[in-house]
Amino acid sequence: MPHPIDDVIRQRRTSKPLRDTARCDEAAPCHAEVAAALPELIETAGYAPFHKLAHESHRQDGLAAVVPWRFYALDKPTCCRLLRHLEAQAVAHPHSKWSQAWDSKIPKLLAGSSALVMVTWLPDPAPTGSLPLLDENNIEHLAAASAAVQNLLLAATARGWHNYWSTGGILRDADVFALLGIATNQLLLGAIFLAHPDAPLDAVEGGSLREKRGTPADWSRWVALS
Ligand SMILES: Cc1cc2nc3c(=O)[nH]c(=O)nc-3n(C[C@H](O)[C@H](O)[C@H](O)COP(=O)(O)O)c2cc1C
Repeated sequence: MPHPIDDVIRQRRTSKPLRDTARCDEAAPCHAEVAAALPELIETAGYAPFHKLAHESHRQDGLAAVVPWRFYALDKPTCCRLLRHLEAQAVAHPHSKWSQAWDSKIPKLLAGSSALVMVTWLPDPAPTGSLPLLDENNIEHLAAASAAVQNLLLAATARGWHNYWSTGGILRDADVFALLGIATNQLLLGAIFLAHPDAPLDAVEGGSLREKRGTPADWSRWVALS
C-alpha cells in the first residue's frame, strides 16, 4: 500500500509548459499565486541532505550558506524580460548561439512558465581553465544539490504545478549568468520551469524517457550474504 509521500513521488513527471513566444502573458493572476508560494517551496527544497561544506569562495554575494547549492528565482515578469532579451540578442546576432537558442524550446518555456528557478551547484575551485574534478567532495556537492532540486519538483507536484527540470540550453551560458547576476564559479544543475495549472499554455510535453525506466527488477536486487 503506497504511503501518501509515495503518491507524490510517483505523480511527479516532466511537464513542459509551452507557449507562443509572442504571448508571454504577465497579467494572468495565476502566475502571481506561484510567485507568492515559491519562497515556501524553496525553503522546503532546502531540507535536502548535504554532507560537505561549500568552499568559502562561494560564500559571497549575500548568499553565505554552507550548502552546496544556490537557487535563483525569476517571476513571470522577469521570465518575459529574459525572453525579450533572448529575442533581441537573436535578432542582433544571426547565426550565433543566440539565434540557435531562439529556435530551441527555452523561449517557449519562458513564455509558458509562471516562474523559473535556476539551480546551481557549487564545485570546489578547479585549476584555471579546467572542469571541476569528479572527486568525493564534488560528487557529494552535486548529489546534495540534486536532492534539493528533486525536493522542489515534489513540492511543485504536490501543488499540482507543471514542473520541468531542464539542462538549460542558453541559460547555462556565461552571458546569461552575468545578466542574472549569478557567479560563474557556480554551475547550472537545472533550469526548473514551473507553471500554475491554470497558466495559459499552447502545449504541455512530457519527458521522452518516462516509460523507459524499467521496473525495480531491472535496476535493483537484494544482496544476500551467507
Ligand atoms: C539532470 C536532468 C536534466 C534534464 N534535462 C532535460 C533537458 O534538457 N531536456 C529534456 O527534454 N528533458 C530533460 N530532463 C527530463 C528528462 O528527460 C525526464 O526526466 C525523463 O524523460 C523521464 O521523464 P519523467 O521526468 O516524466 O519521469 C532532465 C532531467 C534531469 C534529471
